[in-house]
Amino acid sequence: MMNIAAWTAYGPPSVLSLRQVPIPEVSSTDILVRVKAAGVAGWDTEIRALAIPAPVNYLTRLAFAVMRPQTLGQQFVGVVEKVGDKVTRFKKGDKVYGTTGLFPCAYAQFLVVSVAKDPSSFAPENFLDPIVRHVPSFLSDPEASLLPLSGSEALSYVTQAGIGPTSRVLLVGAAGNVGIFAAQIAKRHLGAATVVAVDVGSARTEMLRALGCCDQIIDAAPENNTNTAADQGDDGTNPPSRTDSSSYLSRFPPASFDVIIDMPGVLSMRTVLTLLAPNGLYLPIVPTPSNAADSFFSWPDGKRTQGGAARYTYEGMETLEQMAEKGLVRVVVDKVFGLDRAREAHEHFEGKERRGCVAIVME
Ligand SMILES: NC(=O)c1ccc[n+]([C@@H]2O[C@H](COP(=O)([O-])OP(=O)(O)OC[C@H]3O[C@@H](n4cnc5c(N)ncnc54)[C@H](OP(=O)(O)O)[C@@H]3O)[C@@H](O)[C@H]2O)c1
Repeated sequence: MMNIAAWTAYGPPSVLSLRQVPIPEVSSTDILVRVKAAGVAGWDTEIRALAIPAPVNYLTRLAFAVMRPQTLGQQFVGVVEKVGDKVTRFKKGDKVYGTTGLFPCAYAQFLVVSVAKDPSSFAPENFLDPIVRHVPSFLSDPEASLLPLSGSEALSYVTQAGIGPTSRVLLVGAAGNVGIFAAQIAKRHLGAATVVAVDVGSARTEMLRALGCCDQIIDAAPENNTNTAADQGDDGTNPPSRTDSSSYLSRFPPASFDVIIDMPGVLSMRTVLTLLAPNGLYLPIVPTPSNAADSFFSWPDGKRTQGGAARYTYEGMETLEQMAEKGLVRVVVDKVFGLDRAREAHEHFEGKERRGCVAIVME
């Protein structure tokens, strides 16, 4: 038997509780991993609460009704305990990390993942199958548990955005799981000319300051924003009104950014179109139908929206490892919680004091 942080209903963090279940069986192309840590992702908390925009919420409910996951977690690090008879890439005792694919199962002492698809046959559009690699020795367990999904998502978005040395980049939600990686990759790996990072609250902005890769950091919390009339843009260029939740951005003149990545999906199209330079790209990463539909729409001056799922690839993980080894990307682990405290891990993740990523450790 093994312990899992059981997930039995959609709802608040209290729906997670410790439970014993049988250790899963391996089939011929699977590996059984003794999990050392599982990285908490924004998506984990959203599916736990079914706080997902329609129609993705219906699809998620349907998929999970069929798959019946017992727990959450789609990124992990651990040690191979058993391999199926057709597995050649891994052997017992190997330390591995990766994604579980669509099936969440990482908040557990053991998990089974299929390694049927090897790196050479893995399509980038594929988000259903797991990606599993040997762990580089320079990553701690909590760090390694956060790179596969959260790091890969950030790399996917900044790559899709075509960020380069002349790019002026606005990252909204920069202190979240994806944003922390996106800010570092954009500045240190891709050499963006300017990275402006926005998040809510002083805990988050302090963390971003300590990261040392942002040219400007803005606290979106209204009480910490000293927007004055002058900030509203007195150049007569249609500034957002004070009721616009992103009015703190009116300090920037029109066409200030080549790329806007909006992690929580909070910017209005009006704000986006004002701030984007001609041929600029807006990437709202929350999967809503309107974000997807906007991708097919041409805005004036060649401005574009690109919604859609992140791409997870073996090459992406390798690139992240190289960046982490060179110190270009740091995995900012704020707190770790034991498996019996998965509920608290989610509470902390969703709370205002989070200053980085959160991991669940098994021992
Ligand atoms: N399409 C895909 O394939 C894909 C891939 C990865 C992620 N996603 C989605 O992208 C979203 C972000 O993911 P994540 O893991 O980075 O989540 P996260 O860790 O919760 O990060 C979001 C950050 O944005 C902040 N925020 C909220 N409202 C804001 C505002 N008005 N202005 C500035 N910042 C604000 C949040 O603060 P608070 O915590 O205080 O709200 C949080 O720090 C999630 O909805 C996730 O499901 C989609």
